[in-house]
Amino acid sequence: MNKVIYLDSAASALKPESVIRAEMDFLQNAYANAGRGICGRASNVDNMVANARADVARFINAAPDQIVFTSGTTDGMNRIVHIINDCVCGAGIKNKTVMVSDLDHHSARLPFELLYDSDLCKIVLCPMDEKYNLVCPDLPRADVFVITAMSNVMGMPQDVGAIVRAARKKNPDVITVVDAAQYVVHNEIDVQEWDCDFMCFSAHKIGADTGLGIMYVKNPDRWISPDKFGGGMISKITGSAVEHNVTFQWESAPAKFEAGTLPLTQIIGLPAAVDYLSANRPNLDLIKYLYDRLSENPRIKIITPRDSTLFTFYVDGMHILDFGASVGARGVCLRVGNMCASWIHKVLGVAGTARISVGSMNVMDDVVRAADIIESVVK
Ligand SMILES: Cc1ncc(COP(=O)(O)O)c(C=O)c1O
Repeated sequence: MNKVIYLDSAASALKPESVIRAEMDFLQNAYANAGRGICGRASNVDNMVANARADVARFINAAPDQIVFTSGTTDGMNRIVHIINDCVCGAGIKNKTVMVSDLDHHSARLPFELLYDSDLCKIVLCPMDEKYNLVCPDLPRADVFVITAMSNVMGMPQDVGAIVRAARKKNPDVITVVDAAQYVVHNEIDVQEWDCDFMCFSAHKIGADTGLGIMYVKNPDRWISPDKFGGGMISKITGSAVEHNVTFQWESAPAKFEAGTLPLTQIIGLPAAVDYLSANRPNLDLIKYLYDRLSENPRIKIITPRDSTLFTFYVDGMHILDFGASVGARGVCLRVGNMCASWIHKVLGVAGTARISVGSMNVMDDVVRAADIIESVVK
């Protein structure tokens, strides 16, 4: 059997040994719940979670209490809809304008589109230029703005700081929500420079484990009501709902937004992933190599520019799923389909594409062998 060439890090990154070791060590030697116990072991886990929070805060230039652990980008984006919709106090985003873009992943846009579906708000589109980048100066006015910092199809970084500033010129109170799931892999994030209200990414795409996400909240105290309720997020209950005189006092952030037991093992592995990625960003010369070599094949239609973080293309005269199955059978793991980004595919006028993405562990030999196999399939 062929050795697998893993070129699908944009879907999920392979895990560095240091992450696996940190998780195994926790499970074998230090396991306990966090935020619950007072024994030495439990407070040790509290410290490990606090350290992971501080590490990831530093990674994006935030403060630890602005970091909320979620289960992933999808979870974060869905939760933001409920947090800003203020499901308990009911102020809501009724009659508000939400701006989305055709670069968005389904995870970022669908939660808002579903509000539109129930006639709660109006959806408008952020314009794009001819290179499919978000256009800044001429933005429509919006109350909420979903900004994809890097499309998982186009792979180009957007100037989030400039976009946020342009949106604020039209409406100083606009709530800006950034999907950084792809951006975070290739670029340093400075949430203070971006000055966004919310930002989400998934731990599994930066080499940490699945089931964990990071949601940055600029002003955690601004959002009065949590969106999830349970253990660890409430500091005081007075009265009783049975007697119609209950009042709740939430913990302060971030605990207010972290009901229930956290994904502890994944959180314990996170600092090692942050360290590894910071020192070993994916080598984008591999993408340039693919661009230069495969652009010579007349049947390969390349969508992404040479300086993209991704190599996205389709094959003239071949169904993209057939292509994916053929190279997959020869050991090349890449992504084919609409990549949960159907809007950009509609704009591009293709039903699906193939995407090669490189992670920290990929080397030039991987893409040389992948290109050999792709050329043998697309003659
Ligand atoms: C740009 C973008 N946003 C959101 C997501 C959703 O991430 P997750 O499935 O980890 O929640 C992805 C995943 O591919 C993505 O690429």
